[in-house]
Amino acid sequence: MELKGKVALVTGGGRGIGQGIALALAGAGADVAVADLDQTIAEETAAKVEAAGRRSVAISVNVAQQDSVRAMVEKVEAELGGLDIAVNNAGIISIQSIEELTAEDFDRIMAVNAKGVFLCTQAAVRVMRPRRWGRIINVASIAGKIGFPDLSHYTASKFAVIGFTNAVAKEVALDGITVNALCPGIVGTGMWRGEDGLAGRWREEGESEEASWARHQKTLLPQGVAQTPEDMGQLAVYLACAEHVTGQAIAVDGGCTL
Ligand code: NAI
Repeated sequence: MELKGKVALVTGGGRGIGQGIALALAGAGADVAVADLDQTIAEETAAKVEAAGRRSVAISVNVAQQDSVRAMVEKVEAELGGLDIAVNNAGIISIQSIEELTAEDFDRIMAVNAKGVFLCTQAAVRVMRPRRWGRIINVASIAGKIGFPDLSHYTASKFAVIGFTNAVAKEVALDGITVNALCPGIVGTGMWRGEDGLAGRWREEGESEEASWARHQKTLLPQGVAQTPEDMGQLAVYLACAEHVTGQAIAVDGGCTL
């Protein structure tokens, strides 16, 4: 699979899954713009892309803000000469029961996870449609396929990503653009690990964060082990190359949604 001559953009690319996808795309030959809320970590990933022999640019963005998204795409075009592959990966999570969940928290999650994917997809389609080629990969979740307790807002945002992906895929199908959702299962990034991650928050009485992490892998995943950012990178490269796969929501989840 070969992406030489293509320009990719990965939001939330400063760490975690986004970084894994950025490096996999670079490994397949693409130049990769790395956008993140945190400019410093975007620069770290961009340096890794360049170390792999590809061009890169680090961009500070807030995907929930339309002006910021427009400026991001303009910068990618100006610095790297186009936009062929858009990976809309930036996302956030919080844990709240349905009674605790405030309207503000619901809006905050939807603004980044759902509206952010809409804004980035729209900006990408505007560039790709006239060129009649494009690949849009929206990072959803297993929570876009099944519900998780205390994550009703996050689950709603990821179901939204999958529905949106399906609709836009049909809208642009005649224009050489594919739109797919990539659904990670459980990946040991900042979202899961540490005191503030899911493993830290979902601890049982007296349980260490490490033990909670091990327990969640065993109980939630038929394969018993977490997936990696590299696993997500492999699927992203496939979707960036594939011509006739569109409108799909593909899980890399070790059988979690079986
Ligand atoms: P992470 O928390 O390690 O990385 C997320 C990145 O997105 C960070 O670099 C952060 O600065 C950036 N970001 C957050 N808000 C942003 C905004 N408004 N604008 C621009 N950048 C922003 O998380 P991880 O695990 O790498 O998650 C990436 C995507 O994968 C998210 O959409 C998440 O919902 C999804 N996912 C993750 C899973 C996991 O097990 N880690 C499972 C299923 C889905």
